[in-house]
Amino acid sequence: MKFFVDSADLDAIAELADIGLVDGVTTNPSIIAKSGRDFKEVIAEICKLTPGHVSAEVVATSAEDMIKEGRILRKIAENVCVKLPLTMDGLKACNTLSKEEVPTNVTLCFSPNQALLAAKCGATYISPFIGRLDDITLDGLELIEDIRTIYDNYGYETEILAASIRNVNHVKECALIGADVMTAPPAVIKNLANHVLTDKGLAAFLKDWEKTGQSI
Ligand code: E4P
Repeated sequence: MKFFVDSADLDAIAELADIGLVDGVTTNPSIIAKSGRDFKEVIAEICKLTPGHVSAEVVATSAEDMIKEGRILRKIAENVCVKLPLTMDGLKACNTLSKEEVPTNVTLCFSPNQALLAAKCGATYISPFIGRLDDITLDGLELIEDIRTIYDNYGYETEILAASIRNVNHVKECALIGADVMTAPPAVIKNLANHVLTDKGLAAFLKDWEKTGQSI
């Protein structure tokens, strides 16, 4: 499973990349606004931290303008992936950019049918939002399962990029279902390493080792 970091926090991305946990990065206009940074500058800097895809989202709403923005974003770096909303215009832009071999991430997916459309339009990634469905008492993980089945039924190569991940259980369930990629905030990725029995076991081992008076 590929791990993408859902953030524009350069230090946090670099820290996880050093550990070996970054296969790519996703951003959205809200994440960019939160960073307080210039959009193109911050995307260029993120692109240097990983050879993997870095999603940069268009803000136009017509297909024609999305395509123009996508081409501009693509010029920032070789690993920019153009993120497009799941609207008819977004799908049209996805189809055009995909034919130009521009990597695309179709975002704001909340139904299996939307995911089917993205695959038909050649999307590199589809981003189903788990947490936002859970927020309205629907089942985000069921959506990932349905998309997995549909894509496997027809051999679509579009990768399922599980997004809006809010906790470690989401990551585990996505891995069990077979999502190709998950994107999560740095804090969630760090939490994956935590277990109370690991902490307890390590403390006991270190205490016993101290009694031996040895060093390595
Ligand atoms: C993914 O590409 C999105 O940026 C992100 O996962 C959205 O997460 P949120 O629903 O927590 O804002």
